Parts: sequence; C-alpha cells; structure tokens
Amino acid sequence: MKLRPLFLAAACAALTACSQGGDSGSVPSSGASAPASAPTPPKDAEAIKTALAALPAPYNEADYENGRRKFGLCRSCHTIEAGGPNMTGPNLHGVFGRNAAAVEGYNYSDVLKASDITWGPEPLNEWLTKPQEFLPGNKMTFVGLKDPNDRRDVIAYLMVETATTAE
Ligand code: HEC
Repeated sequence: MKLRPLFLAAACAALTACSQGGDSGSVPSSGASAPASAPTPPKDAEAIKTALAALPAPYNEADYENGRRKFGLCRSCHTIEAGGPNMTGPNLHGVFGRNAAAVEGYNYSDVLKASDITWGPEPLNEWLTKPQEFLPGNKMTFVGLKDPNDRRDVIAYLMVETATTAE
C-alpha cells in the first residue's frame, strides 16, 4: 500500500506538531473502503480540547476518549467522515442541525421520514437511549446506550467529529 506523500504533508501542516506522541490520535480508518478521497486529517489533542470546550454544557465536560470508544458500537452501521458511504445506517457527517432522514440516497424507514425531528443533542440523547421507544417502527436495530455519561460522550464525540467546528 502506497502512502501519498502530499496528503501526509498536508496532514502534518494541519497538525502543526506531527512528532508529538501523546495518544497519537489514531483515528481508526474504517478499513472497509479504500481511501479514495483524502480523509479529513485527524485532529490532534489540542484541537480536540478546543472543540470540546466550545460545546454547550454538559458536552463540554464530556470524555472524548470514552465517546470515541462507545462510537465503536455505531461504526458497524455508520460512517461519520464527510462523504462517507451509507452502510446499514446513513452517513452521519453534519447530522447536527439537519432534519431526520435527509441523507441523499439512503433508504429511510417511513416513520423516520414522517417525523419532524431536527437532530441536535437533545433529540439525539433521547434517540440513543432507546431508539425503538423514541420512535417506534424505525429501522435502527440498536438497543440503546443506558448510561447517560456514555450518551453525553458519544454525542460530544459526534459534535467534534462531524461538525465543521475547530478551525
Ligand atoms: C445495527 C445498525 C446500527 C447501529 C449499531 C446504529 N445505528 Fe444509527 N441507524 C441505523 C439505521 C438502519 C438507521 C436508519 C433508521 C430509519 O430509517 O428508521 C439509523 C439512523 C440513525 C440516525 C438518524 C440519521 C438521519 O439521517 O436521520 C442517527 C443520528 C443515528 N442512527 C445514530 C447512531 C449512533 C450515534 C449509534 C451508536 C450509538 C448508532 N446510530 C448505532 C443503524 C444503526
């Protein structure tokens, strides 16, 4: 496999401190699809901290690492990077502030299409508690996240990763 030097250079420039070890910010690339288009460069620890601090309470106190780990439960069905493919579930990039069932080319359930949800932290918090109770008949077969802290952390992780914040 060939790494593209140009992309790496750009990522280094964006990160400003490539040699900085730390948690190495290894965003697991979803091995499934080859990186046809250059993925969003991974954020470094400082950028993540800044983005987190800018979130509304209680998300500014979220545990990003836990959110990233818990999002592992969603990854089998959802991609989050810009232009990522729809899988069992729709791509979630830019989901905040968007109406439910709005991703082009994804075949949503009728109930989700008929809902008038606009995704924000609050509805997402309810959706993720128990998707089938929040909106009976939707086709997200996921039991839910029981722990409110896990929901907070996943939502914060999503806000940091899918919004075009942190410049
Ligand atoms: C087993 C597969 C699966 C898992 C696991 C899963 N989802 Fe989903 N998700 C779906 C499907 C399918 C839909 C579409 C639901 C519909 O159309 O009724 C969906 C819809 C959504 C939507 C609405 C998107 C839109 O465009 O309106 C959000 C937000 C979402 N999921 C977030 C999550 C998060 C966060 C997790 C992890 C905590 C997760 N999902 C786990 C399959 C999954």
